[in-house]
Amino acid sequence: TTDIYILGIETSCDETAASIIKNGHEIVSNVVASQIESQKRFGGVVPEIASRHHVEQITLVIEEAMEAANLTPSDLNAVAVTEGPGLVGALLIGINAAKAFAFANGLPIIGVHHIAGHIYANQLMQPMVFPLLALIVSGGHTELVVMKEHGSFELIGETRDDAAGEAYDKVARVLGLPYPGGPQIDKLALASDDAVEFPRAWLEPESYDFSFSGLKSAVINYKHNLEQKGGTVIPEHVAAGFQQSVVEVLTTKTVRAAQQYGVKQVIAAGGVAANKGLRTSLDAAFEKEGVPFYVPPISLCTDNAAMIAAAGTQMYLAGIRGNMGMNGRPGMPL
Ligand code: KG4
Ligand code: ZN
Repeated sequence: TTDIYILGIETSCDETAASIIKNGHEIVSNVVASQIESQKRFGGVVPEIASRHHVEQITLVIEEAMEAANLTPSDLNAVAVTEGPGLVGALLIGINAAKAFAFANGLPIIGVHHIAGHIYANQLMQPMVFPLLALIVSGGHTELVVMKEHGSFELIGETRDDAAGEAYDKVARVLGLPYPGGPQIDKLALASDDAVEFPRAWLEPESYDFSFSGLKSAVINYKHNLEQKGGTVIPEHVAAGFQQSVVEVLTTKTVRAAQQYGVKQVIAAGGVAANKGLRTSLDAAFEKEGVPFYVPPISLCTDNAAMIAAAGTQMYLAGIRGNMGMNGRPGMPL
């Protein structure tokens, strides 16, 4: 048979995930074990605890992905695993599991960049068309990437401080909302009838970089000043104002980049791409631009292994192979 089956493994942060993808775009199985209940107790991801969860889950998750696919290892062409960036202790658990599985079954191993994975999640929904612009917004990333062909990534902008999702989570904490804060703020913002005016960080006129720490400070100062005067913060109004600022900057810079690079397709990826306010804004903006804009479903926006297997399939077809010396690369460049 000429079908290509790739097993993907993802453990870079807080999801232990394994998935099998057929021919780079068909999801055969997709298993994600989340640590969210544990993080709620600690208010975020604690690296040591994340690693421990990965150790407990990884073998089960891979077995489950194989069983759900009804395949045996001999049906597979390769094992693709997130090599970086991410928490080094977390990455190593996925990489070691991938090495063991590959060695035991005589399969090649392929190291995938986590952000390439997020971008290739779109390949599971529709074929990628180049040149392509990707907006990656997650708890650890805020990046604009131009792709002229498969496997080529040009980073044109990134955050200079907090990632968009990190800003969401920190502002949510200020408002006393549970972790992860992104979905909570999104919900409050959409239900709000008013919005507090917060600044937008445009940076230099030509820049595609982002900055969210000033906005976070503005929210903290707003709350502090209001409470000093005996007032009470209305969380909906703060959430709506914060979200407006984030969404306007993300949308404006993404549209400007799409125009400058003359892209034929725009995709968003990462956990914050699940944000309803952001989706609505980008949808409207690119409808006006006449450029197709896509966001994968939420389950493929947040961390998963299907996206790693999809990116890994492209690398497999390009002849790229890793080896048993593979190590976790926390700062791996795209
Ligand atoms: O991609 P992801 O699952 O993990 C990382 O690689 O970081 O993204 C998680 C981030 C969290 O910061 C979470 O608050 C944020 O995505 N997030 C959202 C929404 N859903 C998840 N942020 C804003 N609005 C949402 N609806
Ligand atoms: Zn991610």
